[in-house]
Amino acid sequence: MAFEKLREDFPLYSSEDKDIVYLDNACQTLRPRQVMEAMNEYYNEFPACGGRSVHHLATKVTMKVEEARERVAEFIGCSDPSCIVFTKNCTEALNLVAKGYPFRRGDAVLTTDMEHNSNHVPWLQQRDSIGLEVRTVPTPPSGLFDLERCKEEIQKNVTMVAMVHTNNVTGVSIPAKEIVKEAHDRKALVMLDGAQSAAHRPIDVEDLDVDFFAFSAHKMLGPSGVGVLYGKGALLERLRPLIGGGGSVGLTDYEKVTFLPPPEKFEAGLMNYSGVIGTGAAVKYLSELGMEAVCEHESELNKTATEGLQDLASVSILAPQDARHRDGILSFNIRGMTSHDVAMIADEVAKVEIRSGMHCVHPFFLSRGIDGCARASFYIYNTKEDCRKFVDTIRFIADTFSR
Ligand code: ALA
Repeated sequence: MAFEKLREDFPLYSSEDKDIVYLDNACQTLRPRQVMEAMNEYYNEFPACGGRSVHHLATKVTMKVEEARERVAEFIGCSDPSCIVFTKNCTEALNLVAKGYPFRRGDAVLTTDMEHNSNHVPWLQQRDSIGLEVRTVPTPPSGLFDLERCKEEIQKNVTMVAMVHTNNVTGVSIPAKEIVKEAHDRKALVMLDGAQSAAHRPIDVEDLDVDFFAFSAHKMLGPSGVGVLYGKGALLERLRPLIGGGGSVGLTDYEKVTFLPPPEKFEAGLMNYSGVIGTGAAVKYLSELGMEAVCEHESELNKTATEGLQDLASVSILAPQDARHRDGILSFNIRGMTSHDVAMIADEVAKVEIRSGMHCVHPFFLSRGIDGCARASFYIYNTKEDCRKFVDTIRFIADTFSR
């Protein structure tokens, strides 16, 4: 697969910023013209409301939204598109489960000590409002997932395991299939935060047998403002919608409401039609590349970038050290510098765009007394030349500013 050729599809690479080294993909990816064209097609050709009016423009919207739902379902190995709910983002999808599942006081949820706020805050809210017990699996110094500890925790009576599938700071993926099996053996459900996995590796929710799986479009070539919740049909039936309104209900009278079956039950109000259609175009683009190839490409780049920094005494790479465990993510610090300074200087001197700070995983950093890290994250349009520029820039910064 000639990944370098893909740049022709991404307008940023023919703009005045064409020499940019965009390595903030774990936060948000660039979008190809195919996605923007699909979105504009909605606004130009059938800018109507789906699922309500009966004229032909409205019918086209409904058809295009359902086509996008089918594509997304196929992309994650789901054979029933009605198990795909469109949300505003991954955060909303995770909240939908945390707040919509009929938990009872004293039920326990098991997460890790490295959750993004999206899979941390809703559980703390539920702890405070309905007395949910929130337990975590600690990450050992190796940075790898402690499966044995996880199994021990699952054996201590857990209602739901809700974990980040691929971590946005370390890049480490958890052994999801084994965790699901262990949880199901103990009658616990499993939800995966797939924000950093769906974009980067093949996902098969039915093979994993996972109960809920959430992700965002903006991290995988799609627009901002669209997320996805996959749930097994019977579980979606049991989930309460977070918001109610038009489009999610059958007939209402002054006294009562009957919700439609999933997914409509969760899609109240006018939807982000162009965003959903753009999401369909994004997964089509990725499917054509093949997610195995995407994963291999990123790992190769990460290996090159990691090797380029490894001999620098002033640069510390966040564990695990071996790039093979980190997919497309490389987090690091330079001695004596804040991560924000590293990121700002990289942008200023070489247009190398990386992220800095705590990456919305505050408890992990606070508990270890670290004030954040710089993070480079790779995607399909990045090249070996990007890696070289990144490494040269970080070496320059470390040589010049490290104390
Ligand atoms: N936006 C968050 C990140 O950059 C999730 O990792």
